[in-house]
Amino acid sequence: MKVDVILGLQWGDEGKGKIVDFLAPQYDLVARFQGGPNAGHTLKFDNKQFVLHTIPSGIFRPGLINLIGNGVVIDPITLEREATTLDDAGIDYVSRLLISKKAHLILPSHRYLDAASELSKGKNKIGSTLKGIGPAYMDKTGRNGLRAGDIFSADFKDKYEILKKKHIDLLKSFPAVDFDLETEEKKWFSSIEFLKRFRFVNGEYYINEQLNQGKKILAEGAQGSMLDIDFGTYPFVTSSNTLTSGVCIGLGIAPSSIGDVIGITKAYCTRVGSGPFPTELDNEQGEWLRQKGGEFGATTGRARRCGWIDLVQLKYTIMLNGVTKLVMTKIDVLQGLEQIEVCDAYNIEGKVTTEIPYEINDVAIAPITKTYSGWQSSTAGIKEYEQLPQQAAAYIDTLEESLGIKFAMISTGPERESLIVK
Ligand code: GDP
Ligand code: IMO
Ligand code: MG
Repeated sequence: MKVDVILGLQWGDEGKGKIVDFLAPQYDLVARFQGGPNAGHTLKFDNKQFVLHTIPSGIFRPGLINLIGNGVVIDPITLEREATTLDDAGIDYVSRLLISKKAHLILPSHRYLDAASELSKGKNKIGSTLKGIGPAYMDKTGRNGLRAGDIFSADFKDKYEILKKKHIDLLKSFPAVDFDLETEEKKWFSSIEFLKRFRFVNGEYYINEQLNQGKKILAEGAQGSMLDIDFGTYPFVTSSNTLTSGVCIGLGIAPSSIGDVIGITKAYCTRVGSGPFPTELDNEQGEWLRQKGGEFGATTGRARRCGWIDLVQLKYTIMLNGVTKLVMTKIDVLQGLEQIEVCDAYNIEGKVTTEIPYEINDVAIAPITKTYSGWQSSTAGIKEYEQLPQQAAAYIDTLEESLGIKFAMISTGPERESLIVK
């Protein structure tokens, strides 16, 4: 068997949680392979809404195993809080949530450092979610990190103190920020105890055994391809590999074990935080999309920046990920527009290009767009392709032709069932 992958092709928040939740019953196991509580994956069903940050989006499907892979960074406090919302909803999850021993831990002082580092950057700040992601991955690659499996070792507290001291020393070189380390530490150690109820596994052995037994596995990406540490709009990115290649390292599977790569794009585009966004509509039209699409962060509540779909950007991320199936979300949001624009090239200081330039942060990019007719009748909740207004179908045809892949699914609302499966 192979591991199928779901990931975002833009700057995050493409609707990964919804699609994972929908497809989950076709699988035996859902695994997160990177990122941490910077993610906010929204699921809506039975008139209820949940936002998951660390727990994979297969958790609401009875009997399905959910693995937090080694590539993830875990904040025990956030994980306990998320688990509590599952308790409140009466979900039986304890025996179905597995944690890879090699996943790294986010300490309170990582969050402290994140805040101080962002403040020191002034107007050049990344716009981080301040969940401690960057500092935790820095300690991982710097070979200083604490791993989930360490919580069972006798000298865990000593290891913690050594790392914390490093952080306190580092903080002296940053501007002061308000952070109640003592209170956060107390919560953290209490949440570490909470975590001990879950099954800690050697994720790489576990997942390969599952594959050998013929189990069906879905890897759930967080963030989006344009936030990838290597190929995103660096330095305005996150600190992990968000691409298909990250699945191998974040779970311990071989490249030959990758099956379908399901890439998700919104019918338009959003970004939250700083950094370049060539098709951004920093105007009334962008505000219209923000309000109609409810474009406010699932993790931080920040307003998301909105703009037109960008085919230069999508072709780049389809290439990097080896996408085999495309999914579009939020087509319903576009209803009511007279015209819709699609960017298919960039004009950079008089030169036309269809590639993402290395200098993306430093040059003025004028998107070259084609205009398509909008539609006025609602597509919200539609489940049949034939029910889409003719202009919406024409918009989809145009994108498919240009991207060279057909859409396998088109999402028409936040609810689990609001989906066209082609
Ligand atoms: P994720 O991080 O990729 O899982 O996406 P988020 O949950 O951060 O953001 C996606 C938002 O769009 C959530 O509020 C979803 O409930 C919502 N959503 C997902 N699909 C659709 C759709 O097709 N139409 C509409 N209107 N909302 C959607
Ligand atoms: P999901 O999984 C959208 C953005 C932040 C910031 C940059 C770095 O819900 O799609 P970090 O906290 O990683 O240091 O922030 O990345 N970012 C996201 N944007 N969706 C996300 O996750 C994101 N996770 C991080 O806004 O610009
Ligand atoms: Mg999100």
